[in-house]
Amino acid sequence: MNNRYIIGIIGAGNMGEALIKGLLKSNLVRSYEILASAKSAKRVKFLEKTYGIHTTRDNLAVTKACDTTILSIKPQDMSGVCADIKPVADINHLFISIAAGIDCTKLRQFLGKKPKLIRVMPNLPSVIDQGVSVIYCGAKMPERYRRFAHQIFQAVGQTVDVRDEKLMDVVTGLSGTGPAYIFALMEAMETAGKKFGLSQKMARMLTIQTAVGAAEMVCQTGLPPEELRNRVTSKKGTTWAAMNHLKDRGFWKTIEEAILAATKRAKVLRNMD
Ligand SMILES: NC(=O)c1ccc[n+]([C@@H]2O[C@H](COP(=O)([O-])OP(=O)(O)OC[C@H]3O[C@@H](n4cnc5c(N)ncnc54)[C@H](OP(=O)(O)O)[C@@H]3O)[C@@H](O)[C@H]2O)c1
Repeated sequence: MNNRYIIGIIGAGNMGEALIKGLLKSNLVRSYEILASAKSAKRVKFLEKTYGIHTTRDNLAVTKACDTTILSIKPQDMSGVCADIKPVADINHLFISIAAGIDCTKLRQFLGKKPKLIRVMPNLPSVIDQGVSVIYCGAKMPERYRRFAHQIFQAVGQTVDVRDEKLMDVVTGLSGTGPAYIFALMEAMETAGKKFGLSQKMARMLTIQTAVGAAEMVCQTGLPPEELRNRVTSKKGTTWAAMNHLKDRGFWKTIEEAILAATKRAKVLRNMD
């Protein structure tokens, strides 16, 4: 096999670009050791110009030239892309899919029996190297490939293994989709601040630093969020009034239902081809 590149990336959109950026910054690979593909000529040109990597619009060329390929196309594009590359996918190939919902059984159907498969669920803060990526390797996956997957995704944040593939849908609902829950909460706080008299600038600044400070506090103290919330909620105080309202409105249940909706959607994406 002509493995001229260390890593191939098929579908270098937002997540693919985050990986390119992180990999180059971490020095795990050099720019000329990455070969990335996208659909449009404009996109591949941009990637080539910005990162100095090799690019192509031919996914088969990526598979022929790379032993390790990250599949970062949208779930609905997975079957079409895999049909193109399957003829050359052999036992020497490792495919790492980050597509939501598409499980190893489905990937096997698309790519055949020969290649090695790993699933990873990263999340959006990967674009600023603050992501968290959950990695699923089958039980028979040689340790060196599992480690390599960790190395790749450590370039854009933290990594963690999951042993039961069924949990990948929940992971998708929690951390894969999770940044949007935090954005929604911040959006609501900022909007309320403005509505009740603060300037846009002030409402945004207070919201951002409150979110960053609270998240950092959970990190630094190691305490459960519930305990920190209880500590700050003195009886009959202002936080107590706010928390009572959230309880009455089913805030916790609503978040649970949102995570469940995303988890169910991952299952639907799996069966969309
Ligand atoms: N974004 C997230 O927060 C997140 C989190 C976890 C997992 N994921 C998963 O990551 C994957 C990518 O998401 P994304 O947000 O990066 O999407 P995206 O920005 O839309 O990127 C998809 C890329 O695929 C390219 N593409 C489409 N069809 C192709 C084809 N036939 N051959 C080669 N490339 C093709 C597109 O090229 P053009 O740009 O030229 O159209 C685009 O650059 C998805 O499967 C998603 O489930 C995303």
